[in-house]
Amino acid sequence: MTSPPAPVTLQVAAEKPAGQIPRELYGHFAEHLGRCIYEGIWVGERSEIPNTRGIRNDVLEALQQLSIPVLRWPGGCFADEYHWRDGVGPLDQRKPMVNNHWGSVVEPNHFGTHEFMDLVELLGCDAYVAGNVGSGTIREMQEWIEYLTANVDSSMVQLRRSHGRRDPWRVRFFGVGNENWVCGGHMRPEYYADEYRRYQTYVRHHDPENRIQRIACGPNADDFRWTEVLMDRAAEHMDGLSLHYYCLPTGDWQDKGDATGFGEADWFGMFNRARHMDELIVRHSAIMDEFDPARRVALIVDEWGTWYNAEAGTNPRFLYQQNTLRDALVAAQHLHIFHRHRARVRMANIAQTVNVLQAMILTDGPRILRTPTYHVFEMLKVHQDATFLPVDLSPLPQYTHAGQSLPAVDVSASRSTDGSLNLSLINFDPGSPRSLAIKIPGFSPVDKTCRARVLTAGECDAHNTFDQPDQVTPAMVPDPQVDSDGALAFELPAKSVALLTLS
Ligand code: AHR
Repeated sequence: MTSPPAPVTLQVAAEKPAGQIPRELYGHFAEHLGRCIYEGIWVGERSEIPNTRGIRNDVLEALQQLSIPVLRWPGGCFADEYHWRDGVGPLDQRKPMVNNHWGSVVEPNHFGTHEFMDLVELLGCDAYVAGNVGSGTIREMQEWIEYLTANVDSSMVQLRRSHGRRDPWRVRFFGVGNENWVCGGHMRPEYYADEYRRYQTYVRHHDPENRIQRIACGPNADDFRWTEVLMDRAAEHMDGLSLHYYCLPTGDWQDKGDATGFGEADWFGMFNRARHMDELIVRHSAIMDEFDPARRVALIVDEWGTWYNAEAGTNPRFLYQQNTLRDALVAAQHLHIFHRHRARVRMANIAQTVNVLQAMILTDGPRILRTPTYHVFEMLKVHQDATFLPVDLSPLPQYTHAGQSLPAVDVSASRSTDGSLNLSLINFDPGSPRSLAIKIPGFSPVDKTCRARVLTAGECDAHNTFDQPDQVTPAMVPDPQVDSDGALAFELPAKSVALLTLS
């Protein structure tokens, strides 16, 4: 007979605040890929699906509840094929194109600059626009920025005004290409560094009060040489360097593994793959530190998340996948890792918002569902712009499978501007709940209310379907109580994400 796991003491150093958690770590990414933009976000004004100027209301309302800080668009690989002039002006005069990278389907260009900026304004978030280096010209990029942000009587501004937008928009972030080591032109880092230096010159700051942050294309996962070359040759010209890393259960791009129906080996293995994000950040940051010890240049993880074999019966180039409790834990784990690296990692964008990869929302005609990943972003949004508080778990509980171990529990704590203290907790162990005694020196819980919400399910691959959209959804659990030692007692269920709020 195995004995229950030992109780764990969680110390929260409320008296040692350690900087702000940038809200941009909770960023998103929407590409012209599969059904992300069309069907997922944009249905057009004439659709029977209720919409606001063509943007579907149900998806918009669900996304508004996430307090999205920043949205990246139009790609991804699509960005280096995108010619913005084809996507402005009257809809019936826009030029359809072939979306070569994503299934060679027709891209009608109905969702373009104005529609994206409308979405950004409806979400109340910042825009992160990705420019075309691979197949676009410098002039094209320069004119796009002028069209978006200038406020003088130039031909680009006149064109924007003739399309119905008098005032400039605010674009806070601009990406100079995407994955230029592969779909963005198959460039070597030395070549891209030079191209980056040229292109970024023309990312003009038309509004002196809103300087655009220029993001250079950074490395693929563990391509440390790319980071070294870029930092050596172009760091002075950039505000951010991107990093892309996806988690595949098998690690094999030919057969990535399935989103559902997996065994414990794939459950366990995914968390090891997600933990690899921490190592990547540590190693890329160390290289960046050599060239930029003051950490002026941010590491921007502008693509991350799970990537499985596409759902059976769907176009494999549309990257449509289900999303389970496992994805929820992977998402929470990444967000915790980003919190810890907040000094260098100052933006992250999960891929992607709707119907593609680790999506927040899946749609089927007029129906939508919120995925378990959506619920994690909704629960953990309390950490956005909050003050990071160090934590310590003792003894650090372990989850062991097939002779390998990883920490069973992971915690992140912060104090929000309204004074409340939030703890997000993950239990990776699918079999054992963990009893926690939570001690918060300098923050007596006695006179506080502690509320707890938990996201869990019976099965590791539990997921929401259009017929049962609330199979995996957060639930309130009884308030944790203060024990005789003045600690808060909380039982963290097996395979769960929990949020404790003391206020
Ligand atoms: O997110 C899907 C694709 O993954 C993006 O278009 C590309 O940048 C990356 O390879």
